Amino acid sequence: MAHKRKKLTVIGAGFVGSTAAHWAAQKELGDVVLLDINEGAAKGKALDLYESSPIEQFDSRVTGTSDYKDIADSDIVIVTAGIPRKPGMSRDDLLTTNAKIVKDCCEGIKKYAPNSILIIVSNPLDAMAYVAKQVTGFPRERVIGMAGVLDGARFRSFVAEACQVSVKDVQGFTLGGHGDTMVPMPRHCSVGGIPLLEILPQDKVDAIVQRTVNGGAEIVGLLKTGSAYYAPSASAVQMAESILKDQQRILPCAVELSGEFGMKGLFMGVLTKLGGRGVEQVMELKLNEVERAGLEKSATAVRELVEALNKLSY
Ligand code: NAI
Ligand code: 2OP
Repeated sequence: MAHKRKKLTVIGAGFVGSTAAHWAAQKELGDVVLLDINEGAAKGKALDLYESSPIEQFDSRVTGTSDYKDIADSDIVIVTAGIPRKPGMSRDDLLTTNAKIVKDCCEGIKKYAPNSILIIVSNPLDAMAYVAKQVTGFPRERVIGMAGVLDGARFRSFVAEACQVSVKDVQGFTLGGHGDTMVPMPRHCSVGGIPLLEILPQDKVDAIVQRTVNGGAEIVGLLKTGSAYYAPSASAVQMAESILKDQQRILPCAVELSGEFGMKGLFMGVLTKLGGRGVEQVMELKLNEVERAGLEKSATAVRELVEALNKLSY
């Protein structure tokens, strides 16, 4: 009988990849393939996760591999392969090494899963999404970078903590690149529908914005040997779920802009509608002067990164 379940591949069986496989399997998003150049790690983690299924009661087959043939017919491929940050490193320090790794993965994806929708996680995110688009040649609706869901979740969790309310009642998002120039949007944040700026004083909001921008480095500073993975993997899987279930969720994602916000040809974090075709729509919104300047600054940083990338041979 033909295989009817959705298929989700996660490339990179490290901290982010294996945790993503865990969330996806437990949510029964489909069968999960975990691929890594380290075959033992991919197979071992996949088997271990699969063996938890009778306990956790999920019907997702989880398998590990280092062979791209096994990713054939994937509906979604989440790319987490690459090295993470160590303390003192910026995401951009990862540029050369991870460009080579992401290129390698995308060549395999192009060959064996040419109809899949890509969710790129590897850093520096906006540049790696660009590499994925260049290498695969997939249309823009099928190459999506994960950053805004994570940065927005950090922002919302800090707001919930400061307001002493349920995280479920906090709406909010960030725009721009996944770096020091990201643009948290406090003016569009609400707590139970009430604008955040009516609830918290400006100095508290500013501190939350700053902590959000520094959110990745805060975790790196604590872990010392790597970077965050629970919230990043949950973010990538939320995006995958919206696509696989055609939920049409509005989520901030890195997408190649084609004129939105007056920008073209670069990956930027914007609000998108994610459904069965991938990015179904980029949601534009009116920005004030400060927000617009923040987005322009972020665009400049992403452009500089891509220029640096294009000077490298990878
Ligand atoms: P990790 O070191 O735990 O895992 C990376 C895995 O990639 C390793 O298992 C390694 O064997 C594998 N790998 C390396 N080269 C490969 C190749 N050519 N093909 C297949 N697999 C390969 O790192 P971690 O913590 O899982 O982070 C992964 C990446 O995700 C890093 O670049 C990190 O900076 C990025 N990241 C991005 C976030 C975002 O918001 N976009 C958030 C968190 C992490
Ligand atoms: C993060 O924001 C390192 O990009 C990763 O946690």
